[in-house]
Amino acid sequence: MDKKFLITIDGKDIEATPGQTILEAARENGIYIPTLCHYEGTTNPGACRVCVVEVEGARTLVASCCMPVSSGMIVKTDTKRVMAARRLVVELLWASGDHNCLTCEKNGNCELQDLIYEMEIEEPRFKIESPGYEIEQTNSMIQRDLNKCILCGRCVRVCNEIQVNEILDFSMRGSRTKVGPAFDTDLIDSECYFCGECVDACPVGAITFKQARFAGRPWDIEKVRTTCAYCGVGCQMDLNIYNGKIVKVTGNREYGSPNRGSLCVKGRFGMDFIDNPDRLKTPLIRKDGELKEATWDEAYDFIVEKLRSIKEEYGADSIMGFSSAKCTNEENYLFQKFMRAVIGTNNVDHCARL
Ligand code: FES
Repeated sequence: MDKKFLITIDGKDIEATPGQTILEAARENGIYIPTLCHYEGTTNPGACRVCVVEVEGARTLVASCCMPVSSGMIVKTDTKRVMAARRLVVELLWASGDHNCLTCEKNGNCELQDLIYEMEIEEPRFKIESPGYEIEQTNSMIQRDLNKCILCGRCVRVCNEIQVNEILDFSMRGSRTKVGPAFDTDLIDSECYFCGECVDACPVGAITFKQARFAGRPWDIEKVRTTCAYCGVGCQMDLNIYNGKIVKVTGNREYGSPNRGSLCVKGRFGMDFIDNPDRLKTPLIRKDGELKEATWDEAYDFIVEKLRSIKEEYGADSIMGFSSAKCTNEENYLFQKFMRAVIGTNNVDHCARL
């Protein structure tokens, strides 16, 4: 492993690792540098320039998210020049879109809004010019409002580099640059899998969860970390709960493995079954040709009786057990043990997926 060396950030000597960026070294040592396009786990395009810092000897300000540290480097993160440059960038981003927080689902959880507040910007020096794109409403899961897009490219990178779905990219040029699927189609007409990773990554209100719209402000929402109930991978997720109901599901990047915050379409958008009125809440037993609600004791007695009579009449191999990938390894182990040792057959299998 390469030897560590000293650099100085804001007058503080810190140990940096070769290959680290200035931003990484600063964050590791509790020094705050704002970012908008940087997103953990993806490449750094250096697109937003909010993270600029002064490096002694450098002709211009440098993007700290892209600049690797070098031995003896002297960095300043909060000089007048740095603050003026950051402020200009934030004002330009604000002016380039329709950042109307009143109706924005991201209000209270928006990284651009936070920066504007932190920099105490009353209003941008420039004329606000919204591009005037139509809001994409053609699917039931994701809403895209490109008028709020700051072209940070996080959605493009998570789609291409983390999920490797390769649906989103930049198109057009200059102030008409936009993000979307090939041929400028809506998501629903593209090959999009609706994993929702782009929604989690979006720092502003350009890509939001449709079902969460008007269903609770960020500060009213309680997040409960849980394990996805669909397949056997055990993805960690945050259920976003408002008034006792799940309004959306977000990835939990802090928790780490196995999914490092990523989710698939089932985990992300398939949790509405929990409050579905058609959901079975008790066992059902068919009596006189009709399914009737029963207690668990009645259901177990019924199952035992049926298994016993089938085994007696046709033999143990006339019975097959099919378990689920939703169960834990331990439950699946017990199930096969039950089929082999109690029923007396090797006819046992389980679905590896849904
Ligand atoms: Fe460094 Fe955007 S965070 S350029």
